[in-house]
Amino acid sequence: RILILDFGSQVTQLIARRVRESGVYCEIWPFSTDAARIRAFAPRGIILSGGPASVLDENAPRIPDVVFALNVPVLGICYGQQAMCFQLGGAVETHAHREFGRAHVDIVEDCALFRGTWTRGGREQVWMSHGDRVTKLPPGFRAVAVSEGAPYAIIADEGRRMYGVQFHPEVVHTPHGAALLRNFTHGVVGCQGTWTMAGFRDMEIARIRQQVGSGRVICGLSGGVDSSVAAVLIHEAIGDQLTCIFVDPGILRAGEAEEVVKTFRGRFNIKLIHRDASDLFLSALEGVTDPEVKRKTIGRLFVEVFEEEAAKLGGAEFLAQGTLYPDVIESVSFTGGPSVTIKSHHNVGGLPERMKMQLVEPLRELFKDEVRELGRQLGIPEAIVGRHPFPGPGLAIRIPGAIDRDKLALLRQVDTVFLEEIRGAGLYDAIWQAFAVLLPVRTVGVMGDGRTYDYACALRAVTSTDGMTADVYPFDIGFLNRVASRIVNEVRGINRVTYDITSKPPGTIEWE
Ligand code: XMP
Repeated sequence: RILILDFGSQVTQLIARRVRESGVYCEIWPFSTDAARIRAFAPRGIILSGGPASVLDENAPRIPDVVFALNVPVLGICYGQQAMCFQLGGAVETHAHREFGRAHVDIVEDCALFRGTWTRGGREQVWMSHGDRVTKLPPGFRAVAVSEGAPYAIIADEGRRMYGVQFHPEVVHTPHGAALLRNFTHGVVGCQGTWTMAGFRDMEIARIRQQVGSGRVICGLSGGVDSSVAAVLIHEAIGDQLTCIFVDPGILRAGEAEEVVKTFRGRFNIKLIHRDASDLFLSALEGVTDPEVKRKTIGRLFVEVFEEEAAKLGGAEFLAQGTLYPDVIESVSFTGGPSVTIKSHHNVGGLPERMKMQLVEPLRELFKDEVRELGRQLGIPEAIVGRHPFPGPGLAIRIPGAIDRDKLALLRQVDTVFLEEIRGAGLYDAIWQAFAVLLPVRTVGVMGDGRTYDYACALRAVTSTDGMTADVYPFDIGFLNRVASRIVNEVRGINRVTYDITSKPPGTIEWE
């Protein structure tokens, strides 16, 4: 396996993706991880990520000595390359010629990273993003590729099996970057590429059994992909030692609560507590218009109700959460500065530390699409595994202004029609997320011979890979016409339909 040490690059996760796509297991840890842990992980190769700092800064992150002491192949990417050179006796400087975006490198020598793809004398497109650059190589290294802004675009010390690249091979804008990474993991390190999801499933089941022993586990289930997969996997490992708690806050989509109960009790035979807390949630939200207050109220209530149910059960030592890799990374990453809170997110995973239970987090090494694959392996229906993301605060943040049961009912109908049409047109899987928003505006319309004065709604559908940025899905106008006509005809109380064409940024995906 491969260890990726993170120096805070925005794209560190992509390194892990590329490595796993080539069938090699890897994990990302912060650069500050202590040496003993790194030794115990026993990586066969190490990749050093990029990062926002300058190695010339006084407090710049350093590569731990253990990396060089382990005598395994090392690949430094961008900041990783600079730090490696700096620490091994080379030199780095901040240069006026900064390179951002597409650039070209000229291959001037052969190197083990190039096997089967890049050739001497060739020119390759790469994606650069750096202000600093290496100006003097440490002893033992030679330059094997150059670019206009970086005389040491790729460097190699084949004797010590150490390599450095100034650009980012992990992003798609470096078309042959994945091949380069593969040459490192398979060629230089010698990995076989046999890691699979089936292997992961067996490994995780054994790990859960070992962790839990004969203890009891409770798990918050939301019906979303992550908590569903976590629950089924843990159930496969420990059976009835697991109890799931499903808090229905009354702000789910049509039919969702019933489906969760049917699937997990009926199909998987999982012990499930179904708490209908809609009265509690809806009365607490009465008259609340501020999006952040809505979010915080819902988050708080979820925790309270969950704790109440957990206390009734009594005696569980373990709390299971469907925490994913991106959640883990975000919390450890060296970001170089505080970021602004745009929205306070909450989901069933966000239970507080005061519960004083040990965590079982079987998905914490996985990315979303890997979780989906694991879910399919476990026999979870496609309707759950392939489901679009749905926010913890549910439909409450899709009704700007105060919410009530009538508005929720209207929105559920609109949402159902929209999603039926999307599924019918075979577009569901091409879209990251599609939903309707009930607008707090009434507008005038005409139906038959009569005047109407009803609510307007907005439809939203976006493509995205991680929810961080998003593009509007380009439906054809015939499709939108059909959806609009069905909504206005079938949903009493809606007489106008709009399509939200804002990308993220500057918009966000949800309206609140
Ligand atoms: P925004 O609206 O910030 O959303 O562009 C990005 C992604 O996150 C989802 N989202 C949430 N998920 N709890 C969640 O579990 C939340 O509080 C929450 N708020 C937004 C949103 O649906 C989109 O996929």
